[in-house]
Amino acid sequence: MSSVVSELEAIRDEAAAAIGSAADPGALEEARVRYLGRKARLVQIGRTMKDLPIEEKRLVGPALTAIRAGLEDLVRARGVELEREAEAELLATDRVDLTLPGRRPRRGAPHPLVEVVRSLEDVFVGLGYEIAEGPEVETEWNNFEALNIPADHPTRTDMDSFYVVDPLAARSALLRTHTSPVQIRTMETRQPPIYVVAPGRAYRRDETDATHSPVFHQIEALAVDEGLSMADLTGTLDAFAQGAFGSGTRIRLVPTFFPFTEPSAQLEVSCHLCGGAGCSQCASGWLEIGGAGMVDPAVFEAVGIDPERYTGFAFGMGIERVAMIRYGITDIRLFLESPQQFLDQFRGLPLVR
Ligand code: FA5
Repeated sequence: MSSVVSELEAIRDEAAAAIGSAADPGALEEARVRYLGRKARLVQIGRTMKDLPIEEKRLVGPALTAIRAGLEDLVRARGVELEREAEAELLATDRVDLTLPGRRPRRGAPHPLVEVVRSLEDVFVGLGYEIAEGPEVETEWNNFEALNIPADHPTRTDMDSFYVVDPLAARSALLRTHTSPVQIRTMETRQPPIYVVAPGRAYRRDETDATHSPVFHQIEALAVDEGLSMADLTGTLDAFAQGAFGSGTRIRLVPTFFPFTEPSAQLEVSCHLCGGAGCSQCASGWLEIGGAGMVDPAVFEAVGIDPERYTGFAFGMGIERVAMIRYGITDIRLFLESPQQFLDQFRGLPLVR
């Protein structure tokens, strides 16, 4: 057999294998150019055919034509095959199964502190109180002076503050150190009877530890009316403690000092875990949650309310403290950092356990 014909057959076999195994349209085009393009060996052989002896020409000519036509058919067929494969793949991956159940969006939940604030507000609203608000950046007058805390008062250092303006300037602004300035704002704009509750953020230059944070929340209550006494304060605190921590919760008032109340007391509630007997969470059976007292007449004078006619009581407590007691949380930093695992525990948890 002519050596040219056997070369042609070798090229045919090689080309057929390359075309058949082309995995995508790019590889197929590459094979087509290599075996059928202008620089392909087949074309070169076609060009040199004129130099072949006549008998060989008769063999090589038809073989060349048949092989070229055969390879062109193979390229076309493989092209159609690849197109079908691509289509089938698209159908498989792009299929919409209308019978599949929908993807449920992950439900969010209010932050535990928000839950606690709402539930405390509910308790007070149930007692006939209105919600009051005040800004987090306060004047020194509202945060200190009107609350009977003059510039040289030691409490000023306890409630060390974040000043927004130079503290030596005549009237500086500061991040409020408690929610008590809302008492002043309310009494300066309204006449008694006043029954308000003010939740909000407060700031102190306290070192962060398991029970202290430089940013925390308080809830403040203020009642001003004719004839209010310590009995009204304790009765209100009692009702509040039952609503906030569950029925059966007892309160205890331990004498202390606040410049804006007289007398003043530290407010403690019986530990809901041991009922007041003493346990690892409370040690003594009692947990301190805030301060309380009868409004000092000096505060009434500062805001222009007649202390001869009106009396009042106020109390303020730490919301993180309440939440920690309620949920058995031992580190306040969890509220600030709020890792997802921590937050997930509160999804759908009943508020009073
Ligand atoms: C006050 O802030 C008074 N304004 C409360 C008050 C209001 C007394 C009305 C009388 C009448 P005290 O500094 O004790 O008081 O803070 C009250 C509560 O806030 C504390 O018991 C604690 O629960 C919370 N608290 C105070 N500092 C921090 C802090 N750095 N981190 C977290 N909670 C705090």
